Amino acid sequence: MNSNRPIGVFDSGIGGLTVVHALRRLLPGESLVYLGDTARVPYGTKSHATIERYTLQAGAILQRYDPKLLVIACNTASAHGLPALQAAATCPVLGVIEPGAELAAKVQGPVGVMGTLATVQSGAYETAIRRRMPGAEIHSLACPLLVSLAEEGWLDDPITTEICQRYLKQLPDAVKTIVLGCTHYPVLRPSLDRARPGTTWIDSGDVTARAVDALLENSLGYRTESSAGPLRVLFTDAGTRLKEVGSRFLGESLEAVELVEL
Ligand code: DGL
Repeated sequence: MNSNRPIGVFDSGIGGLTVVHALRRLLPGESLVYLGDTARVPYGTKSHATIERYTLQAGAILQRYDPKLLVIACNTASAHGLPALQAAATCPVLGVIEPGAELAAKVQGPVGVMGTLATVQSGAYETAIRRRMPGAEIHSLACPLLVSLAEEGWLDDPITTEICQRYLKQLPDAVKTIVLGCTHYPVLRPSLDRARPGTTWIDSGDVTARAVDALLENSLGYRTESSAGPLRVLFTDAGTRLKEVGSRFLGESLEAVELVEL
């Protein structure tokens, strides 16, 4: 097996660039191909069958780049499309929910999970956490407005803080650890911190990057070329603010993007 092959990363849109950011920080030598389905985002309001179908289509595009690993960076697509893509793909496929659940299951006391409506309705985090910690107390919260606020760039803003407070006050005070179960939420950390000070946030991007690292170390192998890992970015639609907003999620300037059709 050639360990210099890229890692394919898929998301419903630009949010998964937060996972790319975490991957590039931890594994700067890896070659990455990112596909964001910007033409059809959001997935978080769609049905199981649609999300599963979209995930399979995105996986098929990324397979063209002969990846050594596929990462579903999107929580919603991980919740609804992971088993189908694992069955269809010719390489291993990792979603963001299992790594997040792994960390959440180690928490003493109740845990909160924030996500899109489709992620929360799937119960995927509860299932994954309780598989590791039966009887865990989990409080899930759909926060549909937060995706738009993140895309608008209102990251550290009184209105965002107020909306976060309104969502988060639905959780019992005893919840001190909350999983950010959506690609868009890590960029909202300033407002989230202000809305619920003293909370430990589990960033699914960071934990997924660590899970990828473990997979490379244990079986798939690291890229051996000495040059910095290239990043290729594919979108299904390139709207006018794509580069500006995408750069915010990526944490670096988003240069060349390519358009693909699913
Ligand atoms: N990428 C999605 C997620 O992580 C958020 C955006 C969407 O609804 O498609 O759940």
